[in-house]
Amino acid sequence: MTTLAEPAFLRALSGETLPTPPIWMMRQAGRYLPEYRELRAKAGSFLSLCYNPEWAAEVTLQPIRRFGFDAAILFSDILVVPQALGQKLWFVEGEGPRLEPVADLTRLAEIDAVADAAVLSPVIETVQRVRAALPKGTAFIGFCGAPWTVATYMVAGRGTPDQGPAKALFTRDPALFQHMIDRIVAASIDYLCAQIEAGVDAVQIFDSWAGSLGSDDFERWCIAPTKRIVEGVRLRRPDARIIGFPRGAGRLIPSYIVGTGVDAVGLESDIDRDFARDEIQSLVPVQGNLDPLVLRAGGPELEREVAAVRAAFGGGPFVFNLGHGILPDTPIAHVERLLAAVRS
Ligand code: CP3
Repeated sequence: MTTLAEPAFLRALSGETLPTPPIWMMRQAGRYLPEYRELRAKAGSFLSLCYNPEWAAEVTLQPIRRFGFDAAILFSDILVVPQALGQKLWFVEGEGPRLEPVADLTRLAEIDAVADAAVLSPVIETVQRVRAALPKGTAFIGFCGAPWTVATYMVAGRGTPDQGPAKALFTRDPALFQHMIDRIVAASIDYLCAQIEAGVDAVQIFDSWAGSLGSDDFERWCIAPTKRIVEGVRLRRPDARIIGFPRGAGRLIPSYIVGTGVDAVGLESDIDRDFARDEIQSLVPVQGNLDPLVLRAGGPELEREVAAVRAAFGGGPFVFNLGHGILPDTPIAHVERLLAAVRS
């Protein structure tokens, strides 16, 4: 139930149109902040930071202290789920994630059927610490990766430009691919419920590579598994608030909303804003969609684009955000300008 005492972010998610939209930024805890870089250097590696509850909680809170965003997002990564399923994970400095690829039955058989809760328990402890430290009006967002996006990394062992290895696998052996998706679905339901029980107010499902699927594959590998996560979480937590972010799905987003049952969706930067207002925001609250490049560039173009985003979506339930994560070389002064412009 919505009450006036609820944080603005949650009121917007519940469908309220607010005169000033709540705001947070994807990757708001990250390399553009000197205080992040300092703790990151102390931790030695990205994963050591993710799995240290004291440090991960601190990093989650840094952008809240500095900017007073309306929501904090848990500091972790979508790839801790494959790691909990027993797949080796590491990050190559300056490049990105690496996993031991799983592309055949022998390798999949080595992957555990059920996630090891002990791997994820430091993340859950991070949630408890952040919850205890967050100011009252600040909402707290947990997350997981969507099965399709997580599977693209599990199969290829790294990020790929076109998700080719995962597509080759679901074409060659759809039953094997489905098996992998099923394991991610089950692990994600448990993981999101554990985050909710530890204190997050809402969860976001990141499907960063949704845009690379044609409409039939989108139905099978994006909508269907996401729907199972939404239903699985709601079975245990009927009041769970779930945001979907099928990045790049564009005109398929209305069918994603209807098919999955998410409460709200994130919008990428290059979506047609008229379409998004008329065909998406008419169904659920939206979150987005300032281009991270515009934020990095700053200047009058930033002011113009903030105004354009607000003009498009401010007439309905709306959370201001970027269309994707903030870029590491974004000046802090531009984030301050953004907040001033959104809150003016
Ligand atoms: O948004 C936040 O502040 C919360 C934390 C968060 C991170 N990753 C921290 C991170 C979240 C929500 C994610 C999600 C994530 N991780 C996604 C989905 C969203 C998206 O960006 O499309 C994906 C695909 C990943 C996997 C991943 N993690 C990649 C491909 C990379 C390398 C690219 C990069 O930005 O460096 C990461 C690393 C990562 N995850 C960093 C952070 C802060 C940078 C690591 C560092 O400090 O060296």
